[in-house]
Amino acid sequence: MSVTDQVIECLLEAARWAASADNMQPWRFRWDGATLRLLFIDDGKEGAFGIDSPATLLAFGGVIENVTRMAEATGCQLYEAVIFPAGDDKNCVFRCRIDAAAPGAPRADWRTHPLFSRHTNRLPYADRALPDELVGELAALAQGEARCRLLVDAPSVQRWAGLVREGSSLRFRNRLAHIALDASLRMTEAEAARGDGLDVATFFLPPGAKSMLSYTRSWPRMAMLNRIGLYKLFASIEADLVRKGPGLVLVTGAAGRQGALDAGQLLVRAWTRLNQAGLAVQPYYVVPDQIFRLKDGTVPEEARAEALALERASQAALPAGATLYMVLRVGYPKKPAVRSRRLTLSEVAAADA
Ligand SMILES: Cc1cc2nc3c(=O)[nH]c(=O)nc-3n(C[C@H](O)[C@H](O)[C@H](O)COP(=O)(O)O)c2cc1C
Repeated sequence: MSVTDQVIECLLEAARWAASADNMQPWRFRWDGATLRLLFIDDGKEGAFGIDSPATLLAFGGVIENVTRMAEATGCQLYEAVIFPAGDDKNCVFRCRIDAAAPGAPRADWRTHPLFSRHTNRLPYADRALPDELVGELAALAQGEARCRLLVDAPSVQRWAGLVREGSSLRFRNRLAHIALDASLRMTEAEAARGDGLDVATFFLPPGAKSMLSYTRSWPRMAMLNRIGLYKLFASIEADLVRKGPGLVLVTGAAGRQGALDAGQLLVRAWTRLNQAGLAVQPYYVVPDQIFRLKDGTVPEEARAEALALERASQAALPAGATLYMVLRVGYPKKPAVRSRRLTLSEVAAADA
């Protein structure tokens, strides 16, 4: 039975609110009455993540997860799902057909689905232990080969905080990563109102930090200040909240496109579940990002040995053969986060995308 426009609107809304690196929402959604396509949009900017980068695939995995959960909630079915379909649009990451089990409108309360409450909280968390049952609950989640693991013991948390500091120290010396971050920053209300990018109102910025952030947006200036070790200071600041715990979730999976999409689905499933349980979550992509950059050749020559050491140290802390996709800081919130925004449905669901 064909789905109604109202049901499609629910699915596209669920897709629209997915998480993406730097909130860049590199997607368009196309529905032609029978088939849904999730398309990658290449903004062509230097340093932006490409269609095959794990960051992009994790985000698309999150879109697939949200659409799947909303399909369940509205009584419709995704079928003939295929990733990177041959002979289709070259930017098509996922395609499926959709059918309704029964005719009619979605439930009136579809906007209260937990997927719309999933969010990032970059503020400090309370010094309060996480519930014991969470370890088993997260370990039971799986998507393909993707798995997540909650770490609450102090040595593991400190070990990963050290790796986040190492990754971050590499990141702040990486020109491409720096200019991509600069392009995503939204420093004013007017900039944030565009609906994409990183609204600095969602950051945890101690006094003076916003001016420092503005001052170091230019790569030549950052590179100059790095000569006196600014990257070390920034890396310590970034790792500090991780160090304070109380917990971290590692999302791992198989290498490759399907592995990354699965990890993205699982990431969002675990994240939504944690938020539903009243817990705050902040992703730290910097460790996997530096390891992936090592593979795609975007770590500068002089930093390669350090990035290799990071890869080895991270591998040593993971099950054999697992690819690390994400580190999440998890804890009870002290304060609610400022929520990030999105492009409008008409901007992302353009029929001619
Ligand atoms: C692949 C990926 C990488 C991310 N990396 C980071 C990160 O390193 N630090 C961070 O604070 N947030 C990170 N995020 C969170 C996004 O910035 C966030 O999801 C986006 O801004 C939308 O906000 P929301 O999660 O509140 O909906 C990442 C998200 C994804 C999907």
